[in-house]
Amino acid sequence: MLSVDNNKKKIKVGLLGAGIVGTGVLKALSKHDIIEVKKVGVRDLNKKRNLPKEINGSTLTTNLDDIVNDPEIDIVVEVLGGIEPARELVTKAIKNKKHIVTANKDLIATYGAELFDLAREQNVQIQFEASVCGGIPIINTLKQTLSANTFTKIMGILNGTTNYILTEMLNKNESFEKCLKNAQALGYAESDPTNDISGKDAAYKIAILASIAFNQRIKINEVYTEGIEKITPVDIQLAEELGYRLKLIGLAAKDNDNRIDIRVHPAFIKKTNPLASVFGGNNGVLVRGDLVGELTLIGLGAGELPTASSVAGDINLLVAQISHSGKPHPQFICQHTDYAKIKPISESINCYFLRIKTEDKPGVVGQLGTIFGKNEVSINALTQRGISTDKTASITLLTHSVKEEKVQNAINEIKKTGSVKQIENVIRVLE
Ligand SMILES: NC(=O)c1ccc[n+]([C@@H]2O[C@H](COP(=O)([O-])OP(=O)(O)OC[C@H]3O[C@@H](n4cnc5c(N)ncnc54)[C@H](OP(=O)(O)O)[C@@H]3O)[C@@H](O)[C@H]2O)c1
Repeated sequence: MLSVDNNKKKIKVGLLGAGIVGTGVLKALSKHDIIEVKKVGVRDLNKKRNLPKEINGSTLTTNLDDIVNDPEIDIVVEVLGGIEPARELVTKAIKNKKHIVTANKDLIATYGAELFDLAREQNVQIQFEASVCGGIPIINTLKQTLSANTFTKIMGILNGTTNYILTEMLNKNESFEKCLKNAQALGYAESDPTNDISGKDAAYKIAILASIAFNQRIKINEVYTEGIEKITPVDIQLAEELGYRLKLIGLAAKDNDNRIDIRVHPAFIKKTNPLASVFGGNNGVLVRGDLVGELTLIGLGAGELPTASSVAGDINLLVAQISHSGKPHPQFICQHTDYAKIKPISESINCYFLRIKTEDKPGVVGQLGTIFGKNEVSINALTQRGISTDKTASITLLTHSVKEEKVQNAINEIKKTGSVKQIENVIRVLE
């Protein structure tokens, strides 16, 4: 807890939003004697809220401009979510020389460049620890504690909703659709879960982490993104049989040619990978640095108090700087401005798991082998599983490490053979 002598002036904070995270932040700040929450902006003044007793009716307002324009407020905490009006309000607050704390990954991943440029111009800071993995202190760990490292890889389970659904599919052997419905009923998934299940939410987060680790900006639309909608319990069980676990992975790695391989997609990861043991709504991030080696942080990626822990930590960081020198420390200001060169997914190197439905007749396996061989895809293991009543066979195949475009070429050729009924799934295997 922060505490300074009583002669120092209190740091005044304005909150934009008092929903799940905002409420947690107000609870966390109520323990501080140096911070005064001056105003809290909401949409609906009549909504029932579980706020600390210091936050009374006169602190709440629906006029959010009043907060960002208030000359007494030092720090604006944006916990509204979404792009607008968050972007407009944060921009106004920076122009009014206020420091910003935000939990908003959509905003940082999409408009970070313009906001950080403006913040640098105005000599204020934007802190955003809670925007990636809620309660896990990954951003400031990369920026400060691990700042002496050169990073080569970041890999994470960055979305709790999809990890909860995949865990349920594994434990109950039930379909994606059924597990999604259960997750919504229990409050683990939103009524519109599109951003989570499509991988978009994880893409925002890996883009933010990569930009910090590799000191370059990432354009969010260049992050290859695939969700978990096509995953079936069969894929999950086969991964287990082969010694892997199926997870939605956000990955960013720097190449020898300085391009960044950045993507989000379902992947088989080895059961020995620490991320394989991240279950339910938990998140995990593994980083590889030249000095620290491999390090994994695991914890709650969402929720009122875990997320508030990160937001309030950012506020403390700003308060400590402002109350000592009145100015932010340069180490905490985003310095990089150039954009990363992104490696296209077709050039990425992975192993692949394929599930192919074929006619059950002699020569099919040989035909597949020939096509893969012609496209320079080397097969590690091939199994024919059971024959269905419709006289089709299910072939599962694991390749050795290979460039993605070679596998795609082989798949395109396989699709044209009459004996292949369906490519049921193709999942990357991360070694
Ligand atoms: N929830 C989590 O566990 C979590 C974890 C990590 C990061 N985050 C991020 O934290 C941010 C906030 O999430 P949340 O879950 O706390 O959202 P939330 O529960 O929906 O709360 C949003 C708050 O903002 C207010 N608000 C929204 N639009 C407004 C507008 N146009 N004018 C005035 N007030 C407005 C709402 O007012 P009313 O209360 O009057 O409706 C509400 O108080 C998001 O960026 C989210 O991605 C959330």
